[in-house]
Amino acid sequence: MKILYLADVVGKPGRGMIKHHLKTIKQEHNIDLVIINAENASHGFGVSVKNSKELFAMGIDMMTGGNHSWDKKDILPTLDFEPILRPLNYPSIAPGTGVGYLSVGDEKLAVINLMGHFTMPMVDNPFTMIVAEVERLQNEGYKNIFIDMHAEATSEKRALMMMLQGKVSAICGSHTHIGTDDLEINKGTFYVTDVGLTGCRDGVIGMDKKQPMERFLTSISSKFDVPNSCKKILQGVVFELEDGKCIEAFKIKAYDYEKVEVSQRARVE
Ligand SMILES: [Fe+2]
Repeated sequence: MKILYLADVVGKPGRGMIKHHLKTIKQEHNIDLVIINAENASHGFGVSVKNSKELFAMGIDMMTGGNHSWDKKDILPTLDFEPILRPLNYPSIAPGTGVGYLSVGDEKLAVINLMGHFTMPMVDNPFTMIVAEVERLQNEGYKNIFIDMHAEATSEKRALMMMLQGKVSAICGSHTHIGTDDLEINKGTFYVTDVGLTGCRDGVIGMDKKQPMERFLTSISSKFDVPNSCKKILQGVVFELEDGKCIEAFKIKAYDYEKVEVSQRARVE
């Protein structure tokens, strides 16, 4: 199966890039499943029911979340039945689930959304939790396992990959909004520290530059805003899985409405 994963879709500009490019990407790369991190999809904070429906209608199969999963309150009841994940390591009494299931023909895929600790809300230890969860999925016959590791610290993401290489099919980082160029396939596990945002590229992590600049100059926080018009980028990774192993992976990028290009191929270690 061939999967497209877009991390951190930020606001209307991000949704607009998906609307414009997704059909072509799916056709060009024979994509079976599309997964996005949607925790910033509604004006940078959470995803609303309206925007989630809009994204599903564009051809998204599953959405993951993170620390902003809770920002749009109308989405919370739907987390129990829509394919919208929140990190697994939130307390079990929190709405929703951290593991979702997709399939292509008779091939099954388990998707796990996990969150790091550094600068994040207090959640359960992702490292101890994930070992048990992967074991549970393997016992249930899942070979294809994809993890969206939503974390600030690059070290947490890298350590997770070291722990799970050969045991899961792919680990892609999200949350920083800045893409990294360390794509690799190690013992059949595809890894990239962060895929990077889809949205405005000429602000600060997809947001208008004004508020972050003021915050750093004055140490006074103010609400971040997604600009109405901006220069845009789409960033994603495409990875092909066979019998639980990743056999090929690469990064794709599009600037505004220019052609989508393959920007980097994963190195097979
Ligand atoms: Fe986040």
